[in-house]
Amino acid sequence: MNAISFQNVTKTYQAPGRDVKALQGVSFDIAPGEFFGLLGPNGAGKTTLISILAGLARASGGQVLVQGHDVRRDYQAARRSLGVVPQELVFDPFFSVRETLRNQSGYFGIRRNDDWIDELLANLGLSDKAEANMRQLSGGMKRRVLVAQALVHKPPVIVLDEPTAGVDVELRQTLWQFIARLNREGHTVLLTTHYLEEAEALCHRIGMIKQGQLVALDTTSALLAGTAHAMLRFKTDDALPAALAAQARITGRVVQLPAQDAHHIERLLATLREAGCRVEDLEIGRADLEDVFLNIMQGKSA
Ligand SMILES: Nc1ncnc2c1ncn2[C@@H]1O[C@H](COP(=O)(O)OP(=O)(O)O)[C@@H](O)[C@H]1O
Ligand SMILES: [Mg+2]
Repeated sequence: MNAISFQNVTKTYQAPGRDVKALQGVSFDIAPGEFFGLLGPNGAGKTTLISILAGLARASGGQVLVQGHDVRRDYQAARRSLGVVPQELVFDPFFSVRETLRNQSGYFGIRRNDDWIDELLANLGLSDKAEANMRQLSGGMKRRVLVAQALVHKPPVIVLDEPTAGVDVELRQTLWQFIARLNREGHTVLLTTHYLEEAEALCHRIGMIKQGQLVALDTTSALLAGTAHAMLRFKTDDALPAALAAQARITGRVVQLPAQDAHHIERLLATLREAGCRVEDLEIGRADLEDVFLNIMQGKSA
């Protein structure tokens, strides 16, 4: 049985004057114990898919199962299998951190949960904030509480919607250490993120979504193997020759060019030299997931 199964999921929002097709037939499965990454630009449909999974939004069509439970027909069982960390910070400002976590435990019918709550607080670096009111916490601390809140009932499936967007490096590290441990202990993880190096480091498989459609789905290593092996990076103030400009990724003065091997790199450098293009700070790096991602999002094959 799959941990999560999305079957031809569609979602159309009725916005004033026009319909927004947020999801256009998304299908994929996540196996028990997998660490799965869902990547896509803003507006691709990631949060919509997760809202449907969590029972917070209703699909226009298709079916979603969590541990075999249909998220609509069998809402309670599906919800109980899931721990969801939402993208938006939502919390009750009048409760302390501990009260927030006790309330959430009560929602799942768990009475004496303080041992696990203490463990969550310790693992998320929140022990000294247990009695603080939610409104006294910084954004990063609130985000930690949201993570703890999602985990109070020890859900087999953990879903995180851009948990590290705009949070400090320390929280990212604390969070990933803890989530990776839970994954090693058997929890399934579904993560959406903007940080591709995070997905590359953590995820077994990756799905890429664009305008409500799944445009890539493979193991992280296969996605990386399918791309150029090297990336030539340099700075220049000169215009690139047209043949290279077409394949380059340009950010201000920084130019990146994909290359297959050493011969290819030599040819690229020769082309630059012949065009009179002066390069500075030249380096050769390994292509990364960001290169795969950009290729796919630009409609080129990986
Ligand atoms: N409640 C809503 N009403 C109307 N349109 C929405 C609503 N929520 C999301 N959308 C639209 O659906 C699309 C997908 O959004 P979303 O799922 O939030 O994408 P992502 O999380 O990948 O950034 C976007 O075009 C967004 O504007
Ligand atoms: Mg989102």
